Amino acid sequence: MVKQITSWLSVGLISAAALTACDTQTSEQQQASETEEINPRGEILALSCASCHGTDGKSVGIMPGFYGKSASYLKSALMEFKNDERYSTVMGRHAKGYTDEEIELIAEYFGGLSQQNSK
Ligand code: HEC
Repeated sequence: MVKQITSWLSVGLISAAALTACDTQTSEQQQASETEEINPRGEILALSCASCHGTDGKSVGIMPGFYGKSASYLKSALMEFKNDERYSTVMGRHAKGYTDEEIELIAEYFGGLSQQNSK
């Protein structure tokens, strides 16, 4: 009997936790749509940068960080790397793997992150 009560209790707790998780997600989504529409492809593409620059551009160690830079700065930096107009050890190779449209999406994604937080 006691065992049954405890298992009902844990079911209750789990669903309460699940509800809370949903609530946070909805409010984050609302915030995002209130500020600006962000193309999810940008976020997916941006994940390939995370191993060196973190998920938000706040790099650790010797990697240069770019958190707080605007989308237009990031776009031109990536285009310069891609077109060998800016010296790089690895970024040139990396940027060449993306189309101009993808670079724009990545730049918008990272640029949008710092705009949201400075509000
Ligand atoms: C293998 C590690 C690595 C990965 C992956 C990587 N970067 Fe970099 N990034 C660097 C290094 C190192 C530099 C310094 C330039 C150089 O030597 O290539 C740099 C420089 C930059 C800069 C210039 C920062 C500034 O202040 O001007 C930007 C912007 C940048 N990276 C964006 C990105 C984006 C966006 C991605 C994903 C598409 C990415 N990087 C993926 C290592 C990496």
